[in-house]
Amino acid sequence: MTLQLDLDSPLMQPDFSFGIATAAFQIEGANTADGRCESIWDKFCQLEGKVLNGDDGSMACDHYHLWREDIDLIESLGVDSYRLSIAWPRIINDIDGSVNASGLAFYDNIINQLNARNIKVFVTLYHWDLPQYLEDHGGWLNRDTVHAFVHYAEIISQHFQQRIYSYCTFNEPWCSAYLGYQYGVHAPGHKSRKMGLQAAHHLLLAHGLAVPVIRRHCGGAQVGIVLNFTPGDSASDSQEDLRATQIYNDYNSHWFIQPLMQGSYPSSIVQLYAEDQPVIEASDLADINVSIDFLGVNFYTRAVVATPASNADELFQLVPQADAEHTDIGWEIHPAALYKLLTELNRMYNLPPIYITENGAACDDHIVDGQIDDQQRCRYLQQHLLAVEQAVQEGVVIKGYFAWSLMDNFEWAEGYSKRFGIVYVDYKSQKRTLKKSAHSYRNLLNSRVFIKN
Ligand code: FCB
Repeated sequence: MTLQLDLDSPLMQPDFSFGIATAAFQIEGANTADGRCESIWDKFCQLEGKVLNGDDGSMACDHYHLWREDIDLIESLGVDSYRLSIAWPRIINDIDGSVNASGLAFYDNIINQLNARNIKVFVTLYHWDLPQYLEDHGGWLNRDTVHAFVHYAEIISQHFQQRIYSYCTFNEPWCSAYLGYQYGVHAPGHKSRKMGLQAAHHLLLAHGLAVPVIRRHCGGAQVGIVLNFTPGDSASDSQEDLRATQIYNDYNSHWFIQPLMQGSYPSSIVQLYAEDQPVIEASDLADINVSIDFLGVNFYTRAVVATPASNADELFQLVPQADAEHTDIGWEIHPAALYKLLTELNRMYNLPPIYITENGAACDDHIVDGQIDDQQRCRYLQQHLLAVEQAVQEGVVIKGYFAWSLMDNFEWAEGYSKRFGIVYVDYKSQKRTLKKSAHSYRNLLNSRVFIKN
């Protein structure tokens, strides 16, 4: 299977940007180098049983030292854009807010190189690596963290200005808030719904307050946020299942997108989880509802949802799809859900232009005779590109697509066991080898007939 789109596809036109994505903690390693302070993920990795095989981010892909080669690799793929994240603990390494010049210098090198090669720089300010000194004071449960983030965002935007093409405040606040504070499976590992909702509110507020600050300094660059969606489909047409699915979608998707787009939280969740509601100050929702230049959508899979047994703690339950195809991380492959999500969001909200900021598959990849024949990933990417194309044809404004990920990396609680890269990483030698999907992605991008601007 090769990746292929018609030459006259809207995705093959000059105004559609193809890219590749990574995140700091997942690739950089060198987590004590040049004044970088501890992050919540460094700490979390040290806790027994939290990360598979006791893996941690101390080496990762050693991108901190191999960044020159990695930029060559990115350029060789023929992408228009590269999405990376900046590690807050490298930049502001003390609770007093002082700036670490070495941290800025590291990203100066990378961003200048990308600029010189005409690769658009999409930066995420927060891809989950909160400085531990903030978590020691409550992390995202403490409103002061909101102001610490705005300070950090100001430092970055003042320094890089329009050398960064696109500023994303947060990657997937759902994960930071719910996985980190409600379900306990990500750093910092708390387990309370009330905490999850409070953390979510503070993350959204930090976004809202940072946007005007970034705008002041960024010289006209785009400013937005990235949300993850795992849309729920009802297991049946019964009233109960439909209702459970609505609650699931309100809790997981609309709790994040509705305040951003409309300045309110879904009333179902406010009522159903009345005791767990966050503390919200008077101007917060108006601040969160600030206008943005783009919405990033990360999509991997869907959920099938049913009403739970009557004594369950939750108001919905997920129904495993045993007969469907799944990737190596256990996520169902269901590209139609991406098309449905994009067209539904477009109907429900007055959206800014969308970028698909992450999409990809974990596969059990092996090198055989020097090659990695990742057929499932190729198929996955092809099917999802077609879903994006179809949504564009239906009028959804989508300006770009980023495959996740450039190379295999530290997959959070799964450690190094799950490989999402289109480039294979041998962690012992740090050798990178292009998989079939990388060759195919490159061929697709090179088959475009216009001249890259
Ligand atoms: C997303 C994260 C990203 C990566 C992929 C597989 O939720 O943003 O860092 O781990 O999942």
